[in-house]
Amino acid sequence: MSTGQANNENTLQATIEALVQPGKGILAADESEKTIAKRFQSVGVGSTVDNRRWYRSSIIAAPGLGDIVSGIIFFEETLTQRADDGTLLPALAAHNGIVAGVKVDKGKLPLSGTVGDEITQGLDGLAHRLTQYQRHGARFAKWRNVYHVTATSPSRLAIASNAEVLARYAAICQAQGMVPIVEPEVLMDGDHSIDRCAEITEAVVHEVFHALHRHGVALEYMLLKPNMVIAGKDHLTPSTPEEVATYTIRCFRRVVPAAVPSINFLSGGQTPIQATANLNALNSLSKQPWALTFSFGRALQEPALDAWRGDAANEEALQSALVRRAKLNGKALLGAYEQ
Ligand code: 13P
Repeated sequence: MSTGQANNENTLQATIEALVQPGKGILAADESEKTIAKRFQSVGVGSTVDNRRWYRSSIIAAPGLGDIVSGIIFFEETLTQRADDGTLLPALAAHNGIVAGVKVDKGKLPLSGTVGDEITQGLDGLAHRLTQYQRHGARFAKWRNVYHVTATSPSRLAIASNAEVLARYAAICQAQGMVPIVEPEVLMDGDHSIDRCAEITEAVVHEVFHALHRHGVALEYMLLKPNMVIAGKDHLTPSTPEEVATYTIRCFRRVVPAAVPSINFLSGGQTPIQATANLNALNSLSKQPWALTFSFGRALQEPALDAWRGDAANEEALQSALVRRAKLNGKALLGAYEQ
């Protein structure tokens, strides 16, 4: 092993140790401009650069957040923004004991040759962008693939080609000393059953690990951010936490190698209560080879957005709603959450 490689491994290991801590998870605050505009609109707030800066600096500075949240995923814009007192937001996160990361994919496009499948873009120039993000304090990265579920989707082509780009991204990150969060999201949209979700999730995650192996990605230095195995939002009977836990663990035991240190679930449109209850059920089964924790966006931020509603006078309420929800998820990691 060359000295450069050894240095890289030390850097990756240090970031993994900072991110994977008992009782902690990750906060996803990396909504693209289009997505944050939707979230703000739901509480009657316009999405201006300054509103985004103010809101995100408030959540990062929430007192006690660092007790439950080890890492925060930023959107590119946030890396160079400052809090009211002039502190750069990645430095503010570090001050609160939270490691800063960044979403590095460039969104998705229709996948030619398929009906309704999509492919995530952003590999061109990625290595160069990563060095800039690192200069601004980011120590890990995130890339999200999405898979729509219908009776015939996702196609084999979508599963294979999305796995390939996700693995290319992860290999590029590790070569630069950045921990990749690998996020293959099987969407909850639709009326499919939990069995159909399990079938697709197993195929998707299996293909992703096959590609990661081909690209020489060190599984010890990455995090997996998948969906839970759950029935579609419009399915007749919603999945119970016990069903979600049983199906999810069975699926991931089949396809996620034990070398992966942590599985950090996305919330994917589950309500905050539902996501926490499901996480609690996942941590109530027998011990698994990986940590089972959260990397929630909506399920952590919804109560905070609701408390804020665009009024700076509500900052304390915003921060305490966020930390309260984070703490409930901290309880779920111990299987000790009660609704
Ligand atoms: P949700 O928890 O709202 O699904 O967001 C997580 C995320 O980062 C999606 O890419």
